[in-house]
Amino acid sequence: AGASAVLIFNTGLPGEEGVVAGTLGEPGTVTVPVVGLSHAAGTALLAGGEVTVTAQTVSESRQSFNVVVETGTGDPGNSVMVGAHLDSVPEGAGINDNGSGSAAILAIAEALAGTETTNTVRFAWWGAEEFGLRGSQHYVEDLRANDPGSLENIALYLNFDMIGSPNHGRFVYDGDHSAFPPVQGPEGPVTAPEGSAAIEAAFHEHFGSVGLASGETEFSGRSDYGPFIAEGIPSGGLFTGAEGIKTVEQAALFGGRAGVAYDFCYHAACDDLANVDVRGLEEMTDAAAAVVSRFAASTQDVDG
Ligand code: PHE
Ligand code: ZN
Ligand code: ZN
Ligand code: ZN
Repeated sequence: AGASAVLIFNTGLPGEEGVVAGTLGEPGTVTVPVVGLSHAAGTALLAGGEVTVTAQTVSESRQSFNVVVETGTGDPGNSVMVGAHLDSVPEGAGINDNGSGSAAILAIAEALAGTETTNTVRFAWWGAEEFGLRGSQHYVEDLRANDPGSLENIALYLNFDMIGSPNHGRFVYDGDHSAFPPVQGPEGPVTAPEGSAAIEAAFHEHFGSVGLASGETEFSGRSDYGPFIAEGIPSGGLFTGAEGIKTVEQAALFGGRAGVAYDFCYHAACDDLANVDVRGLEEMTDAAAAVVSRFAASTQDVDG
């Protein structure tokens, strides 16, 4: 609110555009000086004058989609769910956030095609995560309302949101600690579902086995696993960092630059193809694939 802004205005008539400097940021009306004009014509009359600018809050509603597919084989009573959000913020293409996770789970689905898993594997590409986890929330609420038994059939949920950050860390969701800040479930605040610790351990075990350092990141519900842990479904996942700043210790562990954001282009127009560290994304995709295969074969570590 109250931020100073430069506004390019355009009346829609040829030549009717110019530049004003003023304070905007909230709905309302301000009168501001005209500081420059790009065309003469009618607007030339405004040079050195003032214009009144009105900012309004506009809302729109639009439809979004979840795309869900499931293996044709395996125990449907013990399903391993794997998800990534397919939408981005309007500011940019969202290639790291979250083309990276979406591509990773697509690669895993392709690799599974034609194989037979012990458990069913169900993939979800979520819509509208950036508008408040809307897609995953809808999915879980819909099952709760219409087919509660099918929630019981989900043994665990694995989430991949931002796994190709240019200045990446190799972070695993911290499933052996309480979700913080607490996630609200139907019966009040929830803590990390018990099996989440085993999922975290499975990721660290994979990284250890290939000689890569791994760290931990908040298990706060700030992505599509939130609605699942709110239902008590053990969950986990990977993350290479967003707007946070890489520490000196993390740079020693993972490489990259200390004092710089993991993803400088987080939620920005520059989150384009050049914003992904391909090698990092491959390491994270391999880890995701290894953990999906492990639980597709057995979820005993998670549910005892
Ligand atoms: N969900 C966040 C987004 O899409 C990214 C994020 C994931 C941030 C996990 C923190 C932890 O913008
Ligand atoms: Zn985002
Ligand atoms: Zn995201
Ligand atoms: Zn931990």
